[in-house]
Amino acid sequence: MTETKFTPRVFSGIKPSGGLTLGNYLGAIKRFVGMQGAGFETIYCVVDLHAITVWQDPAELKTATREVAAGYLASGIDPEKSILFNQAQVHEHAELGWIFNCVARVGWMNRMTQFKDKAGSNAEKVSLGLYAYPSLMAADILLYHATHVPVGEDQKQHVELTRDIAAKFNHDFKVDFFPLTSPVIEGPAMRVMNLRDGTKKMSKSGESDMERINMTDDADAIAKKFKKARTDPEPLPETLDGLKDRPEARNLVDIYSALNDMTPEAVIAEYAGAGWGRFKPALADLAVDKLAPISTEMERLMNDPAEIDRVLGRGAVRAREIAAPILKQTYDIVGLLRS
Ligand code: TYM
Repeated sequence: MTETKFTPRVFSGIKPSGGLTLGNYLGAIKRFVGMQGAGFETIYCVVDLHAITVWQDPAELKTATREVAAGYLASGIDPEKSILFNQAQVHEHAELGWIFNCVARVGWMNRMTQFKDKAGSNAEKVSLGLYAYPSLMAADILLYHATHVPVGEDQKQHVELTRDIAAKFNHDFKVDFFPLTSPVIEGPAMRVMNLRDGTKKMSKSGESDMERINMTDDADAIAKKFKKARTDPEPLPETLDGLKDRPEARNLVDIYSALNDMTPEAVIAEYAGAGWGRFKPALADLAVDKLAPISTEMERLMNDPAEIDRVLGRGAVRAREIAAPILKQTYDIVGLLRS
């Protein structure tokens, strides 16, 4: 199947569960901004239906949904250039998600490493939604015939599953209807690690706030967290190879390079031989420089929730203009009667 008949279109989403982290910013939002106006139609979503796969307090869920929207807007997503909305306002996501539940195979779901990590030894007690989640994610993407999905490394397997679902649907119904979407996983910060343990991903849900930078952290918190970030006693090496087997050091170099739009090699060239006493304050200053304007703007936006809701509502109308015809055609292909 050729992918050329599809309009170059980007779709991506972020769950409103807990606050946004530096991992979300560097692995996702900053890159979403970069793809805006770069030859793609861009559609960005706050995926609230995904958030409820684990318990969410209803009032907090609404606030978290607005906060992710504020994070997108404050970072530079322009609701005129991109479609920005929350998933629950476009019911077609859930409908296509159901159809894909009937296309995806249980064996495929059993291979999803993120489910295994999240469910852990508690797999019998988690929601059925958490298990089926990747097929809803496939629906999010394919409902717009999206050709490109920028995500962090942790979502790669889910985008690959999306391709499997599209291919099986096309094959089963003998159509060339859904594109085989490409994941876009590029740059130095595709897996930002925990500041206290360089072998674990930085996440919203980690136990200690010291392990992550939140997009809403103030300058003091950012400086303190980088100062206390775990490192080894060695100074920075002369070449990037010297960071092999030094996960915490590598992570800080990668964060610096992504924040400053430079390669990790260029960071090493600048700081070769530097101790942490020099590198950590430079990193903290850079992070404050880049993140403070965003957190200030997020705070301003969060003081006007009606305006955020208006932006999301308008985005949902535009999203449905693309989604509704694609869902209708899907129903016709599957043989679901509409009279
Ligand atoms: P979520 O909400 O966990 O994360 C949102 C985005 O942030 C990236 N990310 C990271 N990148 C680098 N380092 C990190 N430490 C880090 N933590 C998070 C994620 O890779 C992701 O790109 N299932 C998705 C949401 C989703 C989605 C979609 C994404 C639902 N439908 C359709 C793309 C397309 C999720 O839970 O992301």
